[in-house]
Amino acid sequence: MSILVTGGAGYIGSHTCIELLEAGYQVVVVDNLCNSSKKSLERVQEITGKELTFYQDDLLDSEALDAIFQRESIDAVIHFAGLKAVGESVQKPLEYYHNNLTGTFILLEKMKKYQVKNFVFSSSATVYGSPKSVPIREDFPLHVTNPYGRTKLILEEVLTDVHTADPAFNVILLRYFNPIGAHRSGRIGENPKGIPNNLLPYITQVAIGKLPKINVFGDDYDTPDGTGVRDYIHVVDLAKGHVKAIEKLKENPGVEIYNLGTGIGYSVLDIIHNFEKACGRKLPYEVTARRPGDIAECYADCSKAKKELGWEAQYTLKDMCEDSWRWQKNNPNGYED
Ligand code: NAD
Ligand code: WQD
Repeated sequence: MSILVTGGAGYIGSHTCIELLEAGYQVVVVDNLCNSSKKSLERVQEITGKELTFYQDDLLDSEALDAIFQRESIDAVIHFAGLKAVGESVQKPLEYYHNNLTGTFILLEKMKKYQVKNFVFSSSATVYGSPKSVPIREDFPLHVTNPYGRTKLILEEVLTDVHTADPAFNVILLRYFNPIGAHRSGRIGENPKGIPNNLLPYITQVAIGKLPKINVFGDDYDTPDGTGVRDYIHVVDLAKGHVKAIEKLKENPGVEIYNLGTGIGYSVLDIIHNFEKACGRKLPYEVTARRPGDIAECYADCSKAKKELGWEAQYTLKDMCEDSWRWQKNNPNGYED
């Protein structure tokens, strides 16, 4: 069975390629490398000892996509490709709408043309906005506050409409919580361009000495230590969730939505202190103002994924910190030499 992985050279995509190859799937990646390096895919092949097929193309290039679907016999698509920086999306809404929405529309047109009926979509906990309570279930109300989040919500609705028009089109919407960590080999991991926006890559760059200190965005939230609480999930657990979703598609499920998290909330200070243990030294930090748009706490109820996909996160916060640190320490400049 052959899986087209869009955005497969990226952080979550590259880890998912490993799990797919190890589960015996053929993998075809399309990625324009706008936020990644093809070295990640070289290393995926080195780690697994298996080959994948890579097309360096843009989803906005309709002819390039035609060529891929004509050449490869695709059975299912996992769609990671997209721009993902919340703050940047506020500054550049049209770029986000064009890349994330138009790119997906073209992909879906090709799937219709070439009769490919199985789709897994990278959605996000961002679609829940500020939840009324935690843990968050899939049936909670949805509310988005920025263009990035809006692209996820719109695409969830578009994909549901496509299923309504063609009930044989199956779609699994995976709402990720906060993916961190790296493959245990230390060969692939998160490789942000410029100064990281997210907490974990920021911490790893302080630990390696590239940034002077961590800014803790607020310690006056209504949480146990006052700092923001999130559901951090190891990227390898997340990747395994995609293999389970591909298996689920074989049952022709129609449209299904699953939260992928651990169900445990950790605070910013919990993350800093656990990372200190992993890297073996104290990390300087300073409490600063709250970041606009942040919420106090967000963690998942993952019982639906456990019951229906047979999936549950296995890795601990200790694993996540140790694996992130191994990747950063062994690759201080990411995929650049
Ligand atoms: P990433 O930036 O590492 O990977 C995305 C990949 O898509 C990159 O390799 C990029 O080059 C590629 N891409 C972007 N636009 C493209 C286009 N038009 N054509 C071809 N390739 C294109 O990001 P990631 O963290 O691996 O995230 C993967 C997906 O998961 C994204 O859709 C993201 O929105 C979603 N997601 C990520 C997180 C997170 O915290 N990392 C959380 C929830 C959801
Ligand atoms: C985590 C916690 C911050 C940086 C984002 C997106 C979400 C999803 C995952 C894509 C918060 C605090 C952070 C720092 C800090 N991505 N923090 N200092 O905001 O939960 O989620 O990534 O879909 O859509 O919004 O993740 O890692 O940015 O923040 O104190 O330098 O760390 O306030 O409490 P977030 P994050």
